[in-house]
Amino acid sequence: MGPIVEFDSVGLRYGTGAEVLRDLDCRLSAGGFYLLMGPSGAGKTSLLKLLYLAQRPTRGRISLFGEDLTEAPREAMPAFRRRIGVVFQDFRLIPHLSAFDNVALPLRVAGRRDAEIEGPVRELLAWVGLADRASARPPTLSGGEQQRVAIARAVIGQPELLVADEPTGNVDADMAARLLHLFQELNRLGTTIVVATHDVGLLAAARGAQLLRLEQGQLVDRTGALRNPPARVM
Ligand SMILES: Nc1ncnc2c1ncn2[C@@H]1O[C@H](COP(=O)(O)OP(=O)(O)OP(=O)(O)O)[C@@H](O)[C@H]1O
Ligand SMILES: [Mg+2]
Repeated sequence: MGPIVEFDSVGLRYGTGAEVLRDLDCRLSAGGFYLLMGPSGAGKTSLLKLLYLAQRPTRGRISLFGEDLTEAPREAMPAFRRRIGVVFQDFRLIPHLSAFDNVALPLRVAGRRDAEIEGPVRELLAWVGLADRASARPPTLSGGEQQRVAIARAVIGQPELLVADEPTGNVDADMAARLLHLFQELNRLGTTIVVATHDVGLLAAARGAQLLRLEQGQLVDRTGALRNPPARVM
């Protein structure tokens, strides 16, 4: 399959600060499973923000789903965003909605009827170990429980692209393995997955995943050398 994401000489700076991402050149294949690793502050969350359209690059070009975002008008962004599931590093659940309603939200936004929502939401909550917490509101859940609600919300609509920022940062190793399995299942059904993580356990367990390494805002290869921009087959 062709690329679902293409970065050409992409740079990002916040305000007038130094560039936090520099000279990013990469192609992500549709249907791929990517792990984005790198030290704290390397720019992982910033790169993901470019992917889920929370930031525009300050230079370079990004194409998503085969369309050049530099050419796309602002009004086109919501339609792109609906094709992307996001697990935020800080969860961003809606505090006054129950776990069930947080997970159901993408389906409701997509216009699904209640009868089509109940089953899948219950099933997914059970999968992430929260069957008995469906009516709890996020502020009454533990960090790991909130993280699992956030993951369920991101995957429920079977998005074309799933972007997850440290999705196992608050759960134990057994639950991390279970969540990885959920991502792999979604990937098997066709979703392209990009997970930013510090979790080397996840790296070992995610066989077949392709590694993207960021250091100080640049993609590097395994040895830490700058990735050669023309080497685009990933
Ligand atoms: N909104 C912002 N305004 C200014 N600087 C920012 C902003 N967000 C991030 N940065 C800076 O950009 C750099 C990369 O941050 P980013 O959050 O992308 O790193 P990260 O790899 O996700 O780190 P972590 O592993 O700790 O989550 C850091 O130097 C950070 O201070
Ligand atoms: Mg981060």
